[in-house]
Amino acid sequence: MGFYNDVVLPRLLDMAMRNKELVGYRRRVVGAAQGRVLEIGIGSGLNLPFYGPGAAEIIGLEPSQALIAMASRRARESDRAVSFLPGSAEAILLDTRSVDTVLITWTMCSIPKPEIALAEMRRVLKPGGSLLFVEHGRAPDPWVARLQDWLTPAWKTFSGGCHLNRPMADLIGKAGFQVVDLHTGYARGPRPFTFMYEGFAREA
Ligand SMILES: C[S@@+](CC[C@H](N)C(=O)[O-])C[C@H]1O[C@@H](n2cnc3c(N)ncnc32)[C@H](O)[C@@H]1O
Repeated sequence: MGFYNDVVLPRLLDMAMRNKELVGYRRRVVGAAQGRVLEIGIGSGLNLPFYGPGAAEIIGLEPSQALIAMASRRARESDRAVSFLPGSAEAILLDTRSVDTVLITWTMCSIPKPEIALAEMRRVLKPGGSLLFVEHGRAPDPWVARLQDWLTPAWKTFSGGCHLNRPMADLIGKAGFQVVDLHTGYARGPRPFTFMYEGFAREA
């Protein structure tokens, strides 16, 4: 799995995440980031062009060195101040209450322990700070959810650990956040892969 995970998967993720269907979500969610921003799973840096003037500093947390290299190239091409934090969302090497915004886009599905990662996001957010998110996850239609449960064990083995069936809003709420704004619905594409949760949350 070394060559696949280190070389092939980062390129596949970059290609898949360049999907034009995702641009509207990125524009709305990333554009709302303010102040010192921690982006969880920055990937190949595809959100960078969507940050607005309110994002003063961007810290990109990312476990994959290959994706950090791609995001660094995109950061150099933009005029944004970006620094990178290699590592996992389950152990964020930042001080408690040190960021204004945590941004997460299509990453919670791949984090092995999302409950621990969300507790870490809550820890690093300043009081009154926002968790901005857009994630795909568990669909409300029973037949789609059943298909998501059935597909996930095979799908996650070659997609970098992606779970299709996580109830994203419930996970965020159970981690001690209040979901202030939530929009859900299917994007274009096969239903098990495209049920989106978009919104923002604050400490409850
Ligand atoms: C589908 S990609 C999304 C990338 C990017 N957020 C975007 O919107 O294009 C999933 C990302 O989650 C990252 N990831 C996987 N496990 C992680 C973890 N434990 N902590 C933080 N990021 C993780 C992957 O390396 C990858 O960059």
